[in-house]
Amino acid sequence: MKNSREQWGSRLGFILAASGSAVGLGNIWKYPHMAGQNGGAAFTVVYLLCILIVGLPILLGELAIGRKTQLSPVGAFNKLSNLSNWKWVGFLGVASAFVILSFYGVVGGWTLKYTLFALSGGFDSLSGSPDVSGQIFSEFIGSSLQPIFWQLIFMSFCMGIIIKGVKSGIEGGAKIMMPLILIILGLLVFKGLSLEGGKKGLEFLFKPKFSDLNPSSIVMALGHAFFTLSLGMGTMITYGSYLDEKQNLFTSAIWIILLDTFIAMLAGTAIFTIVFAMGADPSAGAGLIFVVLPTIFPQIGGGAIWGTLFFFILFMAALTSAISILEVITAYFIDEKGWSRNKATLLFGGIISLVGVFCSLSLGEFNITAPLNIPFFDFLDELASKYMLPIGGTLTALFILKKWSIKKFLKELLIGVKEQKFDKIFYQNVIKFLLIVSALIVILIIMNEAFNLLFPEYLQNAKNGWLLIFSVVVYFAFFI
Ligand code: TRP
Repeated sequence: MKNSREQWGSRLGFILAASGSAVGLGNIWKYPHMAGQNGGAAFTVVYLLCILIVGLPILLGELAIGRKTQLSPVGAFNKLSNLSNWKWVGFLGVASAFVILSFYGVVGGWTLKYTLFALSGGFDSLSGSPDVSGQIFSEFIGSSLQPIFWQLIFMSFCMGIIIKGVKSGIEGGAKIMMPLILIILGLLVFKGLSLEGGKKGLEFLFKPKFSDLNPSSIVMALGHAFFTLSLGMGTMITYGSYLDEKQNLFTSAIWIILLDTFIAMLAGTAIFTIVFAMGADPSAGAGLIFVVLPTIFPQIGGGAIWGTLFFFILFMAALTSAISILEVITAYFIDEKGWSRNKATLLFGGIISLVGVFCSLSLGEFNITAPLNIPFFDFLDELASKYMLPIGGTLTALFILKKWSIKKFLKELLIGVKEQKFDKIFYQNVIKFLLIVSALIVILIIMNEAFNLLFPEYLQNAKNGWLLIFSVVVYFAFFI
C-alpha cells in the first residue's frame, strides 16, 4: 500500500501546499482587522507567542502522525492506537471538514463575484459611499440565486483540483497560486506605501498599544493562531501522509508558520496603508474587505486593476485552503473505503455544495436554523471554529501525550534530521511541556466559550473565572 500511495513531488511543493492551506480568509480578512482593533503590534506579539507555544507543537504533531502512518486521520489514529476509540478524533476531523467547507465555499463564491465586479469597473459607482456599498453587499449575499451560482463555480474549481490528485492537482495548484499571491500582495503593499498618508496605516497595524490589549484579545489571538494554521481537523495529518522520510518536519513546520505569518502581515500592510491614505474608517471590522475597500479602490490611480488584483488573491487564498479541506474527506474515502478519487470527490464535493446552498440561503429568506435564532451560515461557522477545531486539536495533543508517547513522537520528528547528537531527554521534556500547555490552554478557551453560551452571567464574576481555571488545571494534572 505504501508504494501505491501518492506522494508530494518535492519539498518545496509540500511547503507551498501546506502553507496554501494555512493562508486563507483568516490571513487576509480576519488578522488585519483583529490586529488593528486589539493593540496593533501588541496583539501581533501575543499572536506570535501563541503560534509558537500552541500552534507549533500541534502542527508538528499532526505532520508526524500523518507521515508515520501514511494515512489520513481516521486510519492514522486507528493505526497508532491499535484500533481503539481514538479513531473518533479522526472522524471528528472529517466531520469538521464537512462543516467548514460548507460555509467556506460560500465565501469563496463571494470572492469570485467581487473579483469580476472589480474588473468590470463596478466599484466606480461605490466610490466614497460605504452606505451604498454596504447595501449592495448585503443585497448580494442575501439574494437567492446569485451567490449560489458563484459558490457552485468556486466548488467546481475546488473539486477539479482535487480530482487531479496530490501531485498535479494540489501541489501543482499551490505552486502557481502561492507565488502569485506573494507577488501581487507585494505590489499592493508597494502601491499602498507610495500613496500619500499610507504610512499612517503602518503605525495603526504595527505600533504597540499595550493598553488596547485585554484578556479577550488574548483569547482571540490564541484561537486565531490555531485557525490560521488549519489545525484541529487533520488537514496537516493528511498533507503529512504524502511526505516521505527524507523530509525534516521541524524546518518544514517553521517554513509554513513563517509564510503564513508573513502573508498575514503583508495583507494587513496593503489594506491599512490604502485605508489610511484614503481617509476611510479603519475600525470597520469584518465589513472592511467587502464593504469599505470597494469604496476606496476607485479613488486610487488604476483602482479597477488594484481592486481586481486584491479580490483575486483573496479568491486564490480561499481556494488553496478549500482544497485542503476537501482533501481530508476525499482521502478518508480513498484510504478507508477503497473508493476512487473521482467518486469520493464528486459525491462529497456535491453534498457539501448542497449544504452550502442552505448556508447561503440562510443569509436571506430561508434559514433552516431559524428556531435557534442564528443564520445556518453562522451556526456552522461557530460550531466549527469555536468547538470542533479546538476540541480536535486538544485531543490530538492528548493523543500524543497519552497514547502514542512523546518518545515515539520525537523519534518520528528526528527522521530526516541530520544532527542527531543532542540531549533527547531534554527535548522530550520540552515537547511534553508544550503539548500539555497547549492542550490546557485550548480546553480553557472552549470552557470559556461554552460557559458564555450556557451561563452568560457566571464568568462575569472574576472569582468564578479563577475557580474554573483552577479546577480545569487540577483535573488536568490528575489526568496527565
Ligand atoms: N487556515 C485557514 C485560514 O486562515 C482556515 C482554516 C481553518 C482551514 N481550518 C482549516 C483551512 C482547515 C483548511 C483546513 O483561512
